[in-house]
Amino acid sequence: MGLKPVKIGLLGLGTVGSGAVQVLSRNAREICRRAGRGIVISHAAALEPPKLPIDTSAIKITQDGFAVVNDPDVSVVIELIGGYQPALELVLKAIENGKHVVTANKALIARHGNEIFAAAQKHGVTVAFEAAVAGGIPIIKALREGLAANHIEWAAGIINGTGNFILTEMREKGRDFSEVLVEAQALGYAEADPTFDIEGIDAAHKLTILASIAFGIPLHFERCYTEGISHITRDDVAYAEALGYRIKHLGVTRKTQQGIELRVHPTLIPERCLIANVNGVMNAVLVKGDMVGQTLYYGAGAGALPTASAVVADLIDVVRSLTTDPNNRVPHLAFQPDSIKDDPILPIGDIETAYYLRMLAEDVPGVMGRVTTALGRAGISIEAVIQKEPSEGVAQVPIIMLTHRVHEKQMQAAIAEIESMDCIAGSVTRIRLENLE
Ligand code: HSE
Repeated sequence: MGLKPVKIGLLGLGTVGSGAVQVLSRNAREICRRAGRGIVISHAAALEPPKLPIDTSAIKITQDGFAVVNDPDVSVVIELIGGYQPALELVLKAIENGKHVVTANKALIARHGNEIFAAAQKHGVTVAFEAAVAGGIPIIKALREGLAANHIEWAAGIINGTGNFILTEMREKGRDFSEVLVEAQALGYAEADPTFDIEGIDAAHKLTILASIAFGIPLHFERCYTEGISHITRDDVAYAEALGYRIKHLGVTRKTQQGIELRVHPTLIPERCLIANVNGVMNAVLVKGDMVGQTLYYGAGAGALPTASAVVADLIDVVRSLTTDPNNRVPHLAFQPDSIKDDPILPIGDIETAYYLRMLAEDVPGVMGRVTTALGRAGISIEAVIQKEPSEGVAQVPIIMLTHRVHEKQMQAAIAEIESMDCIAGSVTRIRLENLE
């Protein structure tokens, strides 16, 4: 413990930045016992003066992020400002200056990670990003190190806390979508732009990172199929429940012989699955390795202190490795850089899942026959059907179906045929279904 404390530069003193300052202060002794030396934030950049419940007088505070990344006393930069710019420019400058970087910025890593890791390798520094995926859950560490003996077959996770919070409140309390979103924003869970949460973009950032580490492929955020939860209705939540399923917003990535599946969308999963019972802002990731079988990781996916827990864990890792040879550190994307393989990412049409379908049909004889014939012609077999009673004075009835697995292309063709029938009103709702077996 004779080494001098390591000086840290912090970019951003918002929800997670304030959390990191608190964690480092409250757990300073324990952190020092683990890292082998003290860790102190010496220089921070924030647009507004911080409002923290602890004494920050020893931290030099500026509005200029470049003053922090150019500070010769700083060995590690923590980037917690989020977004693409100026985060990218600051991170690349820090790397160029020979500083290690810890970031919680999933958007930055998912979109610019290939460039950032190449720069880090060139300059012999580490860029750590545990907090970018699933908040406080050490899923990056588990995938990259704990499961390193396996071929990863697939991973599926609830990786957006805000979306899970909204779906849970809708199911349990019948609350309104927009009212719950406002609450998630007030609690500091939602992104600066909450459409990132409800349209699946935040989950797509995180899944892109998980897929790279699971399969040793470059980051391909632009190829991730992304669908959010804003079109999910309370009726769908209730019908799914009647059939023994829960609707969760899942990120799914799977290695197949044809390529890699990379998709984020609402998904029916059997309510008996552990992950179907992950509620509120909690996150969970299921990973299937060929040797270990299924493993499940659960915890807080958002919030100041849980996310800061992951940031500080990365910081401790970086401090421990300050004196190690850069070529002998754990590779950023789990595989050695020259072993990264650009396997194809499959278009959504080539992906096979089961489906939940809901349509509004005229209450006349023969409708069900026409619908099932259209599905049958597309090679789609039906697993379950519910036809609801018509409401008084309404000529149309909802029909809900579960199908067996089929290629998305075939399902799209069948849905187009059903929607063209004069006995079907409006469009057919389709939600993918996974048994996670
Ligand atoms: N907006 C994100 C979420 C924060 O709700 O999960 C954590 O990445």
